Amino acid sequence: MTRLFAERLHIGYGETTIVGDLNLRIPDGKITALVGANGSGKSTILKTMARIMQPQSGGVFLDGKSIHRLQTKEVAKQLAILPQNPTSPEGLTVSELVSYGRFPHQKGIGSFSPEDKRMVAWALEVTGMGEFAGRPVERMSGGQRQRAWIAMALAQGTDILFLDEPTTFLDMAHQLEVLKLLEKLNREEGRTIVMVVHDLNHASLYAHHLVAIKKGAVIYEGSPAEVIHPEMLREVFGIEADVIADPRTGVPLCFPYGLAGESTHAAQESPPAVPASAAQERVEREMAEVG
Ligand SMILES: Nc1ncnc2c1ncn2[C@@H]1O[C@H](COP(=O)(O)OP(=O)(O)OP(=O)(O)O)[C@@H](O)[C@H]1O
Ligand SMILES: [Mg+2]
Repeated sequence: MTRLFAERLHIGYGETTIVGDLNLRIPDGKITALVGANGSGKSTILKTMARIMQPQSGGVFLDGKSIHRLQTKEVAKQLAILPQNPTSPEGLTVSELVSYGRFPHQKGIGSFSPEDKRMVAWALEVTGMGEFAGRPVERMSGGQRQRAWIAMALAQGTDILFLDEPTTFLDMAHQLEVLKLLEKLNREEGRTIVMVVHDLNHASLYAHHLVAIKKGAVIYEGSPAEVIHPEMLREVFGIEADVIADPRTGVPLCFPYGLAGESTHAAQESPPAVPASAAQERVEREMAEVG
C-alpha cells in the first residue's frame, strides 16, 4: 500500500496550468528525490501534495483520504514540509521557530508538554542549532537559517517529511550532515522522505527513488540506476554528461561537460595535439624572451 499519492492532478496559478494530469506515488519508508530544471514545477507539486496549495482538479490522498479535505492539524501530525523560501516574523528566535513545529501536537494555547520540549531540544541539537537557540532568525546566516527551518520541520515529528531544497545555502559539511540525518531518520525510524534537490549526485547517493520532472510532468521515475543516464540528462536538464559508477557505492554519478545542442564533438575532443618537441621549443623561446 502507498500511504500518499496524487491522482490526475492539475495544478496552476490563476489561469495558467503548470502541472497537467499528474499521477505520483510516494513509496512508503523510502527517500524520494524530485529533480528537474528551474521552473519545471517541483515546488508546485510538493506544495500541493503537502496541502499548502489547492489543485485545479484531481486529488492527493493520504491514508485513503483526500488531503485537501482534512484539517490542517490532522495533516500536520502526519506530514511536515520545509518550503523553498520560508519567511518568519521579525524578531522570532530560532527556538521559538522550532517550537512552532509542535503546534499540531498541542492541546491548547501555552500547553507545552515535556514531549514537545524534548522534540525541540532534539531538533536543535541534530541540526547544530542549539548554540543559536536564543538568537533572532533574521540575524542568522543563510545556511544557519536553513538549518533552523529544517529543525522546525523535524520537531514536528511526522512520519512523512517533505523538504524543498534542504541543502541549498549550506556548506559542504552541513549539506552532508543534513543528508546523513535524513538517511538516518529513514533507515532507523522508517520515515518517508521526499526532497527536491538540484545536486543529482546527492539524489543518486541518498535517494532510493528518483522522479524527474519536466514541464510539470514525470518524464522518468525509478531507482537512481534506472533514471540517471545520458538521455535523461539531455532531455530533462539539457546537458551532456558522462555517467560513471561511484567507485564506493556503485550508484551512477554524473559529470556534465556541455550543453545539449552545442557541438558536443568539440566538448569531447581533446585539444589539438602539439608535438612535444614543438611545445618544448615554444617554452624555451618564451623563457628566453622573459629572461
Ligand atoms: N506564485 C506563483 N504565481 C504564478 N506563477 C508561479 C508562482 N510560483 C511559481 N510559478 C510558476 O510555476 C512554474 C513552476 O514553478 P515551481 O516553483 O514549481 O518550479 P521549480 O521546479 O520548483 O523551480 P526551481 O528549481 O527554480 O525551484 C514556473 O513557471 C513559475 O514561474
Ligand atoms: Mg522550487
